[in-house]
Amino acid sequence: MANDFKSLFMLDPEVTYFNHGAYGGCPEDIFNAMLEWQKTLEKNPSKYMEELYDNLENSRYSLSKYIDCDKDDIVFFNNPTTAMNTIVKSLNLNPGDEILSTDHEYGAMNITWDYICEKTGAKFIRTEIPIPYESKKQFVHEIEKNITSKTKMIFISHITSSTALIFPAKEICELAKSHNILSFIDGAHAPSQIPLSIKEINPDFYAGACHKWMCSPKGVAFLYTKRILQDSIDPIIISHGFGKPPKGSKLYSGSNYLNYHQWQGTRDFSNVLTVPKLIQFLNDNDWVNVAKNCHNLALYARNEISNLLDTQPISSDEYIGQMTSIPIDTDDPGKLKAELSKNYKIEIPVTSWNNKNLIRISIQAYNTKEDIHKLSDALHEIRSN
Ligand SMILES: Cc1ncc(COP(=O)(O)O)c(C=O)c1O
Repeated sequence: MANDFKSLFMLDPEVTYFNHGAYGGCPEDIFNAMLEWQKTLEKNPSKYMEELYDNLENSRYSLSKYIDCDKDDIVFFNNPTTAMNTIVKSLNLNPGDEILSTDHEYGAMNITWDYICEKTGAKFIRTEIPIPYESKKQFVHEIEKNITSKTKMIFISHITSSTALIFPAKEICELAKSHNILSFIDGAHAPSQIPLSIKEINPDFYAGACHKWMCSPKGVAFLYTKRILQDSIDPIIISHGFGKPPKGSKLYSGSNYLNYHQWQGTRDFSNVLTVPKLIQFLNDNDWVNVAKNCHNLALYARNEISNLLDTQPISSDEYIGQMTSIPIDTDDPGKLKAELSKNYKIEIPVTSWNNKNLIRISIQAYNTKEDIHKLSDALHEIRSN
């Protein structure tokens, strides 16, 4: 892969960076565009705020074209966690209601579901999805087996965090629909890592991050909600948008969904306002092709490191995007991660999932085969000591 992509990003050139999946990484041009918006804000805050809703609409329009949905069905949030909390707290769960999910979900999402279930007496059901993961059909079958008359919602990751697997979002939404159950996809890792059409997946709710694989500045995420469900979602923060709109105010649209969630008190939206420029950047740099190359490099990394560690892949190739998790034998994942960072300047997460330790390699445009060889050499040296 062309190494000059690295010069577009702001990463420390001394560091071999394999952790794009956690907090993304922003191209310098886009970061500078955010700074420009911030200067515009400070030059004339009143004008910036007056124009804000039109500018937000612009950003929603660009993003809606990118993820294939209507611009008025998405609203920006700071992160998927806030978007997900908004839905969870509006569900009005009753004792015995069941949320059907998997044992691969992201920690903060599990904690949120545990919290709301503790409060309401609902249950969070974590369907076991064994690894190696090799069949969509089997996945759907495992979930379907756990559907009961109490199942209120199916919640799954589109791409999982620890295990870095692509799950069958479309098939699960179809399954939920056929049983009259709500569907909610945690798409934190999907936009730009894999082609995404919300229309095709047809979820009731979909939360996604722009600050991961789309490479936006931090604090840019979205929540899609199906039109007929929008009025049932309360804002997580009550502010102006919840009140009666003053006549002619630019801050209110005809949609309660937008009114309720867009304004949560004064904040700087400059990160969000870079979205049209960001999408232009992704298109100008043929990011669909970049993602394909990254996928191939991720498979190369998976094979190299699995061979070195003498472990088997945890899925077939089709369930891998730009991230891959590899089982690793270590007594102390935290110590190994710190050692790679301190002694080799390699940033990579080593985590535990279901009593297995996994090292997760994220491949973005700036990663190269040489980076993978560096990791391989470092792991070889650590394991030989
Ligand atoms: C699968 C998944 N969902 C949700 C999140 C939450 O993202 P954020 O911290 O940006 O809200 C993450 C973060 O890594 C994740 O991996």
